[in-house]
Amino acid sequence: MTHPEHAHAPGAHTHADHTHAAPMPDFSRESWEAKYREREALWSGQPNAPLVDAVENAAPARALEVGCGEGADAVWLATQGWKVTGVDLSATALARAQVHAEASGVAAHVTFTDEDIEQVIERDRPWELVTSMYTHPAQGGRWLVETLAQAVAPGGRLVVVGHHPTDPHAADHPDLKDAAFAAETVADVLDRDAWEVSAQVRERVTLGDGGHERLWRDSVLVARRH
Ligand SMILES: C[S@@+](CC[C@H](N)C(=O)[O-])C[C@H]1O[C@@H](n2cnc3c(N)ncnc32)[C@H](O)[C@@H]1O
Repeated sequence: MTHPEHAHAPGAHTHADHTHAAPMPDFSRESWEAKYREREALWSGQPNAPLVDAVENAAPARALEVGCGEGADAVWLATQGWKVTGVDLSATALARAQVHAEASGVAAHVTFTDEDIEQVIERDRPWELVTSMYTHPAQGGRWLVETLAQAVAPGGRLVVVGHHPTDPHAADHPDLKDAAFAAETVADVLDRDAWEVSAQVRERVTLGDGGHERLWRDSVLVARRH
C-alpha cells in the first residue's frame, strides 16, 4: 500500500511525507475525506512503532483506536489477538481499512465506524487498550486525552501519539502547528494517583521523494490505569 512518495524506514510510523502536499485547511470530516480521495493510499499500511512498543507484553483483550485512518494499526492489533473498534471521520479511509482487515483475515475481529468518538465511548466503554496515533482532532490534544482516558478499563493502557510542536513537519502546516502537543502537557489531564504515566519525545527518520531523509519528532504518551 505504500505510495512511492510515502516510502518510510522499516518500523517507522506510517505517516506520509507531506512536504509537497497542499496544506490542510482544517481538521473537519470534509477536509479529511477530501484528502483521502486525493490518493489511493495516504499511509504505508504498516503499524506505528510507538504503538507496537507500547502493547508489547500486554494480554490481548478489547481495543479502541480513534483516528484509525486506513486501518494499519487496527489490523495489526487484530492479528495480535485484540478485538478492535476503529473510529475515523473519513468513510473512504474506513472502506480501505475494511479491505485491509479482510485481506489480512481479521475482519471478524475488527469493527470500523465513523460515529462520534464520545458517543462510541459512552455506549461501549471500557477497553483494555485505547489508542490514537497522530489524530490531532479539532478539539486539541488535551481534550483527546481527557476523552480517551474515560474509555480505559482499570489496569488498561492509553497510548496517544502526536506531532511535537518542534517537529519540522508541524512547521510546514500552520494548522498542525497549533494542534501539535507535548506529551507531558496533554498528560496533565491525567490524575497521577490513578495513572502511571510515561511522556516522551521520540524521533524517527523517513525517506521521502528522491530518497531524501526527513526527521520527525513525536510526542508519545503511554499511561496505565491503576
Ligand atoms: C494523520 S491521520 C492518522 C491516521 C492513522 N492513525 C495513522 O497513523 O496512519 C489522522 C486521522 O484522524 C482522523 N480524525 C481526525 N479527527 C478525528 C475525530 N474527531 N474523530 C475520529 N477521527 C478523527 C482523520 O480522519 C485521519 O484519518
